[in-house]
Amino acid sequence: QKNGFRFFMEKEIYEQSDVVSDCMLGRIQDNTVTFDEIEPSIIEGINEIKICACGTSYHAGMTSSYFFERLSKIKCHVEIASEFRYKEPLLSKDTLFIVISQSGETADTLEALKMAKKAGLKTLVICNVDNSSMTRLADFTILTRAGIEKGVASTKAFSTQTIVLWLLSLYFAKIRNSISSEKMQKELLALREVPKALIISDKIHEKTKRLSKRYLHGHGFFFIGRDVFYPLALEGALKLKEISYLHAEGYPAGEMKHGPIALADPELFTIALMPKNLLYDKVKSNVEELSARDSTICSISPLDFELSDDFIKINETEHYMLEFFEMLVVLQLLSMEISIRLGNDVDMPRNLAKSVTVE
Ligand code: M6R
Repeated sequence: QKNGFRFFMEKEIYEQSDVVSDCMLGRIQDNTVTFDEIEPSIIEGINEIKICACGTSYHAGMTSSYFFERLSKIKCHVEIASEFRYKEPLLSKDTLFIVISQSGETADTLEALKMAKKAGLKTLVICNVDNSSMTRLADFTILTRAGIEKGVASTKAFSTQTIVLWLLSLYFAKIRNSISSEKMQKELLALREVPKALIISDKIHEKTKRLSKRYLHGHGFFFIGRDVFYPLALEGALKLKEISYLHAEGYPAGEMKHGPIALADPELFTIALMPKNLLYDKVKSNVEELSARDSTICSISPLDFELSDDFIKINETEHYMLEFFEMLVVLQLLSMEISIRLGNDVDMPRNLAKSVTVE
């Protein structure tokens, strides 16, 4: 069943290009976005989007908050479901409540959904499993069509969730008239290019294998990025810690000087996400500061960065989300290769379950 791959996680990383195509099938038509599962009335009277999820699904939600504000021009807040449940949240009926879950069974996310329903909010679930508890409960469901995901470390669920949310933000943008047709075409062009961005070259995989030899020790990892590359940094750090058991943190690059940079030394590895198309100079100056404090820097970028100790070169593209997906694959492969080198069970990491159905 692993089709020649060493682990399900590896198979699932390689499947991403195809499942993302499936995920988009029929959803981009006549140069616009359509969803059979929902109707434009879903955002009638809506002034805010609230997203709840856990783990990797939460990171997809965080990524999408940039799309909903930037493209759809709708206020968007994202919360970790286990926090949301007990904070006595104020919910108002002009909020569209979105939950994101691969399994559709995560206890905290399911309870958050129940709370929103009880408060009379419109609810939408973005899910990979049809007929799961969440799809049965929510008013609307959009399926991610990723196929069965076996590895505990979520990979293709994240990429398809991100695609659905990006499409959804464009769908709302179209209804709200908040996007110019040129901008819409630019976004759709980039979306169509995502499957290509997710094709893994031997060169990139080999590079992550080689680097995994050296990035095994030290006292920890910082993954840093800005904008959507911040949730991507969180996702990279989560992937590494869950299967390699190494300490890793994701940070917004601009936040380093507010405390974390105190940890910088050669034994601290910084994985810097440096897209050409979004805030390059800002991230660069944050990385320069870390380099000046002797942190070991591994940059992932289409552009050479002379201060890097290591450099993983991704393809040069014209949209930051294409850089996002190229970097995603690099982060997934790097954590998997480190885990393999450490002799861990990549698919079944210790202390974790695929579906967290208890709080
Ligand atoms: O099934 P869900 O998407 O609701 O699961 C949420 C998290 O438990 C899940 O994403 C977890 O963080 C993964 N193991 C991360 O790789």
